[in-house]
Amino acid sequence: MSNEYDVVIIGSGPGGYVCAIRCAQLGLKTALVEKYETLGGTCLNVGCIPSKAWLDSSEKYHELVHNFDNHGIKASKVQLDFPKMSERVQKVVSDTCAGVSFLMKKNKVDVYTGHGSFVDPHTIKVAGKKEELLKAKNVVIATGSKPSSIPGIEIDKKRVITSTEALKMKELPKSLAVIGGGVIGLEMGSVFLRLGSKVSVIEYADTCIAAMDKDLGKNLQKVLKKGGMEFYMGHGVSSVKATAKSVKITAKTKKDDKEVVINADYCLVAVGRKPYTDGLGLEKAGITLDERGRVPTDDHLKTSVSHIFAIGDVTTGIMLAHKAEEEGVFVAEQLLGQKPHINYNLIPGVVYTWPEVASVGATEQALKESKKAYKVGSFPFKASGRARASDESDGLIKILADKETDEILGVHMIGPRCADLIAEAVLAMEFRASAEDIARTCHAHPTYSESFKEACLAATENRALHI
Ligand code: FAD
Ligand code: NAI
Repeated sequence: MSNEYDVVIIGSGPGGYVCAIRCAQLGLKTALVEKYETLGGTCLNVGCIPSKAWLDSSEKYHELVHNFDNHGIKASKVQLDFPKMSERVQKVVSDTCAGVSFLMKKNKVDVYTGHGSFVDPHTIKVAGKKEELLKAKNVVIATGSKPSSIPGIEIDKKRVITSTEALKMKELPKSLAVIGGGVIGLEMGSVFLRLGSKVSVIEYADTCIAAMDKDLGKNLQKVLKKGGMEFYMGHGVSSVKATAKSVKITAKTKKDDKEVVINADYCLVAVGRKPYTDGLGLEKAGITLDERGRVPTDDHLKTSVSHIFAIGDVTTGIMLAHKAEEEGVFVAEQLLGQKPHINYNLIPGVVYTWPEVASVGATEQALKESKKAYKVGSFPFKASGRARASDESDGLIKILADKETDEILGVHMIGPRCADLIAEAVLAMEFRASAEDIARTCHAHPTYSESFKEACLAATENRALHI
């Protein structure tokens, strides 16, 4: 194959591989460079997909052990086959990664395996089994992110681990300490809690999943606490010391420096992620990173060099797979002179715990800060017939609407299947629906989605029907 391309994309995560597909669909000669043998990036290999596979398997086990009895189903001698569970997860990962390879072939994208770096602004070196030079009219940097740590804490990947190792555990820990009550901490913490580990979460902030509407964090913490998760909120970790078989974590309260010591088999460090640009040779392309190590771009995702773009976790914005995908499509279409658009306010966030947490648009805190006049409508799942039928009545849906115009400004939910329910809210907001629009839309009965309609009824003259 000739090594001259319209586009060379570095990184095959959801940003890079989706960008490659869209470029190829639009007729551009496209190359995708990935340093690992498998495609799919963090998301498919060590992120979204394996974590959701663990969450689903552990939820099934937990339901069988703890909740089936309520439904009149008796199970005895239930056994956990941890290695088999892990094997299934790895199979889901390898099948999904193989799916991306198939899509590259189908779309005639040339895949190069090896570390990509700039030789000059139009030349990319791929250091793989052999070294190759690719000439590119345009380059897309989609190199993603890696886990961050806290100063002074060594991640030895044996006892002090990140999500990458937690997803590939060889044994079920008796106890797991998690530093960070954010998305990874609570998702991975839930997996091990459901399987029987003692899980302790140490979080510096006063609420968990603090970037989301405060009501969600409060509610989620309550449910997880009821399920046995231990929380040390408002605690900063001062030291983590690992031995061959355990870890000792020392933390201090923010308020009065009171020390607590937590001993566990493993310590999962989940304190955020940082952009990954190691060995990319950005200086040879004339690109400088910003103060947080991100590749800065303008509104068109263009870097300071006009034919080089950056998308996904490596640039600014929320680190989510679907945000990376939207940006991949955006760059491809723009290269063809189209005028794509991304509404960053409408990128939903989901936490795949149980109950699930999902959110889109403005939080109540943000509306208060901006002094926007708003009204609230909320509906608890315990008033939903469907939720009661399924024994899933924890949680609520809260909608925030403009006090004057009734336009929906934010939707925040915690409860059964909220990861899927949020799509209706995103769509409604994309079309700038009012709460009244949803309140007058027929929703099938009995479904969880009726709760969204009820929350909208509650926001419009307090006329929810079932509370
Ligand atoms: P990445 O997926 O990180 O891909 C970047 C790729 O570039 C990697 O394959 C890397 O090897 C490659 N690369 C880097 N440098 C080079 C180089 N120089 N040469 C060649 N290749 C290179 N997001 C969600 O939306 N939903 C979820 O449920 C979710 N769950 C997650 C669970 C976990 C445990 C983690 C860690 C993350 C999760 N995320 C989730 C976040 C999501 O994985 C990321 O936002 C997403 O993968 C970012 O995509 P990306 O394409 O920007 O980068
Ligand atoms: P996060 O930003 O969600 O949470 C990190 C937490 O660690 C914060 O609450 C922070 O206050 C806390 N923290 C930081 N330093 C601390 C310290 N010294 N002591 C105690 N607590 C401390 O980051 P996380 O969970 O690592 O996830 C990284 C990113 O990956 C997420 O922001 C998200 O973009 C993505 N992700 C998305 C998922 C999803 O969409 N379902 C799932 C998993 C990850």
